[in-house]
Parts: sequence; structure tokens; C-alpha cells
Amino acid sequence: MTNRDSTPPPPWHAAALAHAVTQVRRIDAEVSDFPHITEGGRWRTTADGVWTGGFWAGLLWLAAIQARDATLVDAARRMTDRLLPRMHDQHNHDLGFMFYPSAIVAFRQTGNLAYRDAAIAAARALAGQFNPDGNYIPGWGFFGGAEWQGQVLIDTLMNLPLLAWAAGETGDASLLDVAHRHAATSLRYLLRADGSVYHMFRFDPASGAPLGGDTYQGAGPESAWARGQAWALTGLAILGAMTGDATYAAASARVARTFVDALPPERIPPWDFHDRQPDAARDASAAAIAAYGLLRLARLTGNPAHRDDAVDLLAALWQRCANRGEEGGLLLHATADLPHGLGIDESTMYGDYYYVKALTALAE
Ligand code: GLY
Repeated sequence: MTNRDSTPPPPWHAAALAHAVTQVRRIDAEVSDFPHITEGGRWRTTADGVWTGGFWAGLLWLAAIQARDATLVDAARRMTDRLLPRMHDQHNHDLGFMFYPSAIVAFRQTGNLAYRDAAIAAARALAGQFNPDGNYIPGWGFFGGAEWQGQVLIDTLMNLPLLAWAAGETGDASLLDVAHRHAATSLRYLLRADGSVYHMFRFDPASGAPLGGDTYQGAGPESAWARGQAWALTGLAILGAMTGDATYAAASARVARTFVDALPPERIPPWDFHDRQPDAARDASAAAIAAYGLLRLARLTGNPAHRDDAVDLLAALWQRCANRGEEGGLLLHATADLPHGLGIDESTMYGDYYYVKALTALAE
């Protein structure tokens, strides 16, 4: 992503990025597995990276590139290598999250074809989960139950860029076709008339017939789960840039308008926009993801208002949420899954990754 308008980053930007790199070094010294979310300010880690391991490897790559630090490069390679055995997962809609920030970046940085091949294998495994009757990739196959075969998550839009990249690398148009068909299903059923999105939509997996909107991590079926809005905004903006399809840019801009208009004055969204309580838990991760998406949308559309909105979000994250302490993640005040009591007012590896991704993009 190049900064075509050459607008300089805001004055606090260098300090925020330098502080982020320092925090990444601290976390790297603390953990040996993949940091997932914090509980009580301490990282819960996973050995295989569940669905978030790509963000830790990706954050290490971002910090390594930013700081030109060989120790961080070694750590980034080591954690990327540990994800590669996941390339054939047949029950994981998050293979884009797993392989784009890690293996594809590793391939670009090192030229090692093993990383490219692993990312292509992951794209094929993702495409292999496509339901051609319903025109969607089901979510949560890793939970294992048959009921997941009929559930489509808004988050999956963020995994489609892996398919678009692999189609470009291999010339296999069927991978791009899966991306377009899943995205069309998402736009038809998950995007609402007011520019907000459902967290999930249920289908009959046998016939592919649509059944209705629902949620898992939001306040209710008709609510606007903040991170879901951010995933949609960002996934559509990236897809628009990768495919040149103006439908995605227009849809991303609609979600962006609704997201930004719903923000409170201090710019960090509540975990769900329908939770109007003054002390509602916030979700800094949604702000970070949206900030990155808005920067992509600004570049895609040439509309500087999206960049201004992204800068507002990043300024608020730096001032209100950046962790100045010695424990936990880069961003405080994220919420992983409030209805299930997980990671409320904590740190998340996806929030941390997109915070640094957006800070980096602001200067590119
Ligand atoms: N993709 C799952 C989440 O955002 O929590």
C-alpha cells in the first residue's frame, strides 16, 4: 500500500509505532507459544495458534521490518514455521487470518518458496470448504459439529484475500470464483439496509436455503457487534483493492459510514453498538481493525475522509488504549467475546496486530 497523497503521518505517530515495537519485544521475551487473548492482563497462549496464530507471526514481521531487527526476524520466521502444518486444515474458515500475515509475508521477505506453497495449500483448503449449493464457506468448522455447516460469519470476508492472492499466484480462477461467490452471499444476506451487518446468517446446509440472521458474540440477532462491523468494512475494502470490483468498495464505504456515525465521542466503540449503557465494555480491537480498513478504503476510493476517520481512531487508541505497562498486550480495553465471558476489557492478538498494521499503513 503506497501513500499516494503523501499526507504526512500525525506528530504522535512515530512515538506510537516505536512504543508498539518495544511492547512486541517484551511479549516475545515472555511467551513461547502463540498469544491469543489476555485474562486478568496475562496472555493465554496456544500451542497451535488456534485461529489467531497468524496475527502473532504477522505482528513479529511488522515489528521486525519496522525496526530492521534480526532477532525479531528470527522470531517471526520461527512462529510462521510453526503454523505451516495447519495448511491443510479442512475445518477452518480462518486460514486467511492464519496464512496471510505470516506465510505470505514470510515469502515476500525471504523469497522462500516453501512459504508460498504453504499459503497456496491453505487457500485450497479454504476453498475446499465451500458449499456450492449455498454459495458460502461455513464458519467454525473447527468446532466439529454438523450445525456449523449452515452458519456463515461476517468475519470470513477477511479470509477471502487469501483466495484472491492464491488465484493470482497460480492462475487458478476457481479460487477467485469461490471468493466472489462467498462475498456475494455475504452482501446479499449479511449486509443490512442501514449499512450494519449481521454477525452470522444461517442456511440450510443441504439445500443452501437462507434461514435468517443471528449472532454468537453480539448482543442479539439484530444488533451490531462492533468487531463484526469492522471485519466487514476491512474485508470488503481489501477485496475491492485486490479484485478491482467496485461493488466491494461501495459496500465497504456503506459499512464505514454506519460504523463511524455510531462511534461515541471518545472514538473507541462499545463491544456492541446496541449496548447503550454508559459503562458498556469497549472493544479497542474493533477500532484497530476499522482503522486499518478505513486506510485501505481511503486508498481505494481516493476519499480522504476515510483517512481522517482512521487517524481519529488511531489517535484515540494511542491516547486511551495503548498499554504503557509491563504486562499484557499492546492495546488495553478490547473485548473478545462478552456473551461467553471471554476476554472482557482485555487485550487480543487481533487488536494488537491491526493496530500496528494500521500505524504502519499510515506511513506507507
Ligand atoms: N473472528 C472471531 C472474532 O472476531 O472474535
